[in-house]
Amino acid sequence: MATNFSRRGFLRTAVVTGGLFAGGALIAACGGGGESAPAQAPAASGAPVTLEIASKGDALEYDKTSFEVPAGSKVTLNLKNNASPGSGVHHNWVLVRPGTIDAVAADGIAAGEANDYLKPNDNRVIAHTKMAKEGEIVSVTFDAPAPGTYDFLCSFPGHATLMRGKFTVK
Ligand code: CU
Repeated sequence: MATNFSRRGFLRTAVVTGGLFAGGALIAACGGGGESAPAQAPAASGAPVTLEIASKGDALEYDKTSFEVPAGSKVTLNLKNNASPGSGVHHNWVLVRPGTIDAVAADGIAAGEANDYLKPNDNRVIAHTKMAKEGEIVSVTFDAPAPGTYDFLCSFPGHATLMRGKFTVK
């Protein structure tokens, strides 16, 4: 229950910040079938791609270290935190521009818990989920950036050295 509410809440945020997604959200709200009705999708919207990633139990590790998506995709990434209840181990998923991963992680620690361990309005960050608590699923929907190879990380203090990977658009 809480998990679903939190996912919907986040998607609502995504709709507000990205008007292009509104058409897709309406289709989903009507019970799916988006793939069989492409004519109803906004012309400017890319093909939808859904990616799943999770933490490996209580380990500070993602279960995937690379993704590849076609250029122009409308990407939805779902992150599941599989840490044990009460462990206090939280995770997020942050996509960043090449060469910025360590600086984003360091600035995230400085930004603190009140900012979800991300520097506010950081233009090095392309997309990010909120922090997922133990057992929680969080999502983010975004337009794939220009073709290239990007980095992703968890910005929770101390996690980025282990929780990171490559995100390729081609
Ligand atoms: Cu983490």
